[in-house]
Amino acid sequence: MLPRAAYVDPVVFEWEQRYLIGGGWLCVGWSDQVANPGDQRAEPTGVGSVLLTRDDDGGLHAFANTCRHRGHELLPCGASASQGVIICPYHSWTFALNGKLQAAAGFKNHTGFDTAQWGLVELPVVEWHGLIFVDGSGQAPPLDDGLGTLDELLAPYEMSRLVVAGSHEYDAGANWKILTENYHECYHCPTIHPELCRVSPPKSGENYTLQGLWVGGTMDLRDGMTTMSLDGTSQGVPLRGLDETDLRTVLYVNVFPNILISAHPDYVMLHRLLPQAVDRTIIECSWAFAPEATERPGSDPSYAVDFWDLTNLQDWAACESVQRGLSSPHAVPGPLNPAEDAVYQFVTMIARAYLGQPVWNNGSSAWSGG
Ligand code: FES
Ligand SMILES: [Fe+2]
Repeated sequence: MLPRAAYVDPVVFEWEQRYLIGGGWLCVGWSDQVANPGDQRAEPTGVGSVLLTRDDDGGLHAFANTCRHRGHELLPCGASASQGVIICPYHSWTFALNGKLQAAAGFKNHTGFDTAQWGLVELPVVEWHGLIFVDGSGQAPPLDDGLGTLDELLAPYEMSRLVVAGSHEYDAGANWKILTENYHECYHCPTIHPELCRVSPPKSGENYTLQGLWVGGTMDLRDGMTTMSLDGTSQGVPLRGLDETDLRTVLYVNVFPNILISAHPDYVMLHRLLPQAVDRTIIECSWAFAPEATERPGSDPSYAVDFWDLTNLQDWAACESVQRGLSSPHAVPGPLNPAEDAVYQFVTMIARAYLGQPVWNNGSSAWSGG
């Protein structure tokens, strides 16, 4: 484990918000949340927030969510809007969807006021497998450098064509890393997830040791089970790009630092972690299905949503208890079990960041001789 302070010290949390959450590529949601010209959305990025816009040519932009006049947020965090311009709610400075200042009341005939100088601060943004990533530092290497090895694993799921048909927001009293570590092991499954163990053997699957800014692995479905649901049946449609193996497998991937992608034979679940405090994290969970499934009359995502809602709540309860346990001044880091090798990969990434080194997962694992 990481030292106790990593989970309980607000100073560590503030550092992480600046350098881990806001210091490089961060997933800020699904592309279809900002799908059409005029769509605008504000999302937190560790320190501060980002305003996403879709311009008239379909181009996606990300701006620091701060007005160039006196700094008012252009949209409240988590809010959406749809209109042809960005209007600051404070003194109505008006910006084009590409960030250029269009109008500032009362400045029209002022010599020395050049609107070209007062455009919004633009940040790098890319769309990747149906998700939007923003580089809060403005200086990170290309996203593909860190996630290239994951492309091949995710490609068959065609996430950019999937439709989000269910979502839940959770507020967990646990550090964001405790939630991520919990995601990376099923050592706890026999104890707290009886429903999960009925459809997927907790000891099944393998973790990847591929290089990149991600950690993850697979688990198998039991014979006779077609997906992760309470009875193992699917009310959806298998994703069309999957092969025989994919149809018997669930892929669990944590893209550093803030998302957990769980790709099933018939849906993809996304957890997006929004750290709020050293001991509190909002988790936005969404479920995306093939359009062939969502367009069917009576289509109902609850078979997937209900199963994972139950499992999520079991997980958050355990994570909150870990948070309370670690608040004891007598808490001391313990050893990881071989079944927690992906936890080891994740905490090693974090430890490298603490030491000022690149976070890059070099594929080594304490248990695979790397
Ligand atoms: S702060 Fe935005 S218009 Fe004044
Ligand atoms: Fe769990």
